[in-house]
Amino acid sequence: MNNVNVLLIPKEIVCKEKELDDKLIVVIDVLRASSTIVTALARGCNGFIPIFSPDEARDKAKEFTKGEVLLGGERKGRKIEGFILGNSPWEYKKEIIKNKIIIFTTTNGVKTLEMAKNASDIAICSFLNLKAVCDYCLNFNGDVLVICAGKEGKFSLEDAVCAGMLIDSLRKKLPEFYRETDANLTVQMLYTQYADNILRMLRKSQHGQYLESIGLEKDLEFCSSVDIFDIVPIFKDGMIISR
Ligand code: MLT
Repeated sequence: MNNVNVLLIPKEIVCKEKELDDKLIVVIDVLRASSTIVTALARGCNGFIPIFSPDEARDKAKEFTKGEVLLGGERKGRKIEGFILGNSPWEYKKEIIKNKIIIFTTTNGVKTLEMAKNASDIAICSFLNLKAVCDYCLNFNGDVLVICAGKEGKFSLEDAVCAGMLIDSLRKKLPEFYRETDANLTVQMLYTQYADNILRMLRKSQHGQYLESIGLEKDLEFCSSVDIFDIVPIFKDGMIISR
């Protein structure tokens, strides 16, 4: 790895579109798409097909034999009507998802993946698999671009803190010519602020408070766990699989 930069909101991708293809893109959506994808792959699902439109997701499911796929995802944080699964990582139990393909739609994480889909290398990061992603970045022969999914196009504290934790881990192993951008410095400062209590930070975040308000406080506890899975989900050719 030569260098690492962070985009605090996905809209910044637009002006960097042409620069994506030779980089490793790391997409972070702590609450909750990244955390759900990492959990389900670690528990043995065959992969995810991210599709932003719920109707297109339903149509995609019809292309598969019954029992091969499950529909999962959310709108406004709640499970979509007619879907088997929402976007709470703990729902993706081994006995439900093992050997299945999840056709998956979420408001922010899937949208960000679609915005970055022309890049040749896309990894998915959360607190749950942070060290695995750090090691993957260090072994990548090129520059790394970390993209925070945010919420509805706006900055999200939890994604920035996770990006700060990743960059803090990477910078110690970067060549001396590495130059910190203001965004890199900012996310690392945010991480330093909350490193001792990730759950407290999630409870403080706007989206964390929203999820609590709709009865999903359990998700915050789960998504605050650090390095419980040693896998790196890779998005390529329309599919997310565990590398
Ligand atoms: C996401 O993309 O993770 C969702 O929009 C947020 C959520 O699942 O509550």
